[in-house]
Amino acid sequence: MLNRKNAYLLMVLVTIVLIVYVIYANFVFDTRATGFLSRKMELKKALNIAVWLKVMHVHVAFACLAMIAGAINFSSWIFKKYRRFHRLNGYLYVVSVMIVDLTSGYMAPYATGGKISSVAFNLLNILWLLMTIMAIVKIRRKHVDQHRKWMIRSYAFVFTNFSIHLLTSFFHKGFGLSYANSYTISIYSSIILLLLVGEMVIRTWPKARI
Ligand code: HEM
Repeated sequence: MLNRKNAYLLMVLVTIVLIVYVIYANFVFDTRATGFLSRKMELKKALNIAVWLKVMHVHVAFACLAMIAGAINFSSWIFKKYRRFHRLNGYLYVVSVMIVDLTSGYMAPYATGGKISSVAFNLLNILWLLMTIMAIVKIRRKHVDQHRKWMIRSYAFVFTNFSIHLLTSFFHKGFGLSYANSYTISIYSSIILLLLVGEMVIRTWPKARI
């Protein structure tokens, strides 16, 4: 069983690897998202690729910021020593979540897999925002333990993109489903999976002494 410090370091490591990968994939390797866009078939709405790409890059940049700000704020050392920084950084996380949600709202109608996928993305948008707002409401009422739980639930969703791609490969390559169907199933599966991951972490993560 991992102790609190090692569990935190492992989470930071996974987050750093993901951020480096996401930045490399979207800002260096395939800046025009050709691989991803080539899978979009039979879109009902015409896609303005230039605008979509700009929005997607803002989406990715703020997603990375949310990952960094969130990971830093789970450090109990920073929480104990630098409360003011924890608070400011927490608001940076909230603003980043809002921007990821807003940009997601623009991209959702063009989602791979069509309307069923966009419904799932919009559901995800609402859920993620609600969980993040709950974390803020709880701390404003000085309910530290509840704040921690809602932040864990919210933070699990920074792994949305990773989870969707992992599950899409699983259904597409493993079960031979079409890419679009695999993608749609993966969005719904990711919502369930990430909710479960949040609950599992809440139950198993060793608590800090405050
Ligand atoms: C926080 C971590 C996240 C990262 C790093 C991230 C990254 C990305 C990237 C790179 C894309 C472009 C397509 C691809 O290569 O997958 C994308 C698309 C998209 N993301 Fe995110 N995302 C994150 C979270 C979210 C969340 C939480 C939502 C919903 C609330 C969301 C909604 C969308 C939508 C709707 C698209 C367009 C999908 C499509 O066109 O089929 N993302 N995201």
